[in-house]
Amino acid sequence: GDYELGGHPDFMAKEIAEQPEAAQRVLRGRLDERLGTARLDGLRLTARELRGIRRVKFLGCGSAYYAGQVGAGLVEELARVPADAEPAAEFRYRNPVVDPDCLYIAVSQSGETADTLATVEELQRKGGRVAGAVNVVGSAIARECDSGVFLHAGPEISVASTKAFTNMTLAFALLALTLGRVRDLSLGEGRRIARALAELPERIGQVLAEEDRIASLAGRFADAQHVFYLGRVRGWPVAREGAQKLKEISYVHAEAYQSSELKHGPLALVDAAMPSVVLIPDDELAVKNLGTIEQIRARGGPVVAVTTTGLAVPGAEEVVRVPTAGPELDPVLLTIPLQLLAYHTARKLGRDIDKPRNLAKSVTVE
Ligand code: G6P
Repeated sequence: GDYELGGHPDFMAKEIAEQPEAAQRVLRGRLDERLGTARLDGLRLTARELRGIRRVKFLGCGSAYYAGQVGAGLVEELARVPADAEPAAEFRYRNPVVDPDCLYIAVSQSGETADTLATVEELQRKGGRVAGAVNVVGSAIARECDSGVFLHAGPEISVASTKAFTNMTLAFALLALTLGRVRDLSLGEGRRIARALAELPERIGQVLAEEDRIASLAGRFADAQHVFYLGRVRGWPVAREGAQKLKEISYVHAEAYQSSELKHGPLALVDAAMPSVVLIPDDELAVKNLGTIEQIRARGGPVVAVTTTGLAVPGAEEVVRVPTAGPELDPVLLTIPLQLLAYHTARKLGRDIDKPRNLAKSVTVE
């Protein structure tokens, strides 16, 4: 009812708006700004054991998988430990090589997704070390894993994940920082990241303050048959999650591509009727991303650029600017405007936002 929605029109709007406080909860008590590190006691790993981890693999379904991809990028970047993400159901059915020096992370908002739970059991059977990254305390995956990190996003009702996704990426930033600081990450860099993380809830609030501006762009997508979401490196998992959000709740076909792959095929689809959302993190690839926009414009494709930079983006029809907290954390902040874009497109189209057709909040059967 109204009370639960706290004045919001639906749960997705409420959960998007709750992100600054939710982000504070996942960080609380876990950051040490003086030592430039983090502590994740629930992992139950000593510094020596943390140092022994040779690989990190994130496993989950849907948005949890994309959050894992953000996590893998952070772990490689901050800790220089090889990391990747894979859909849990793919992993469990391909008879994976289980590596005793790998830290496997089972990522799940509900903690009840059947494929993710079965993946945990398969890993345990084969002697893999698996920790949970779960939102719902007492859920099946949380109980099955004897270590992990709780996401503290609070109850998420809307089928499309928002605050749980953000808290997943923040939990993985904490993990990456922890792993980095028992390896090569310097005190100074550790402090910079810890400070940026501490400031992130406030930055998220600043992105949310741009809601009206982002909502005004939604008409472009509501009229489209197909939308591209393009990003490279830090922007790539963000593009995938952004496309997923639009598909799930608006039913507009969206496809994510690495910007770097555009000219190897998908560029053939670009015309005046197919808008592209291009992500431009504040990093050394920003100029390449401007080049991507040029390629699209040259074929008459409308572009909405979403960026943490202050760069002029001449080729874009629209530019959404969001604050940065340093390039490493840009994936976290760039996801927020894409939630709002999907949300307002779905509203314009009159969709049932909290309960999109054909989808369930958690898939507990195969
Ligand atoms: C379903 C939901 C998705 C969610 C996925 C994984 O498909 O519709 O929004 O990302 O399950 O759910 P989990 O609870 O494991 O994070």
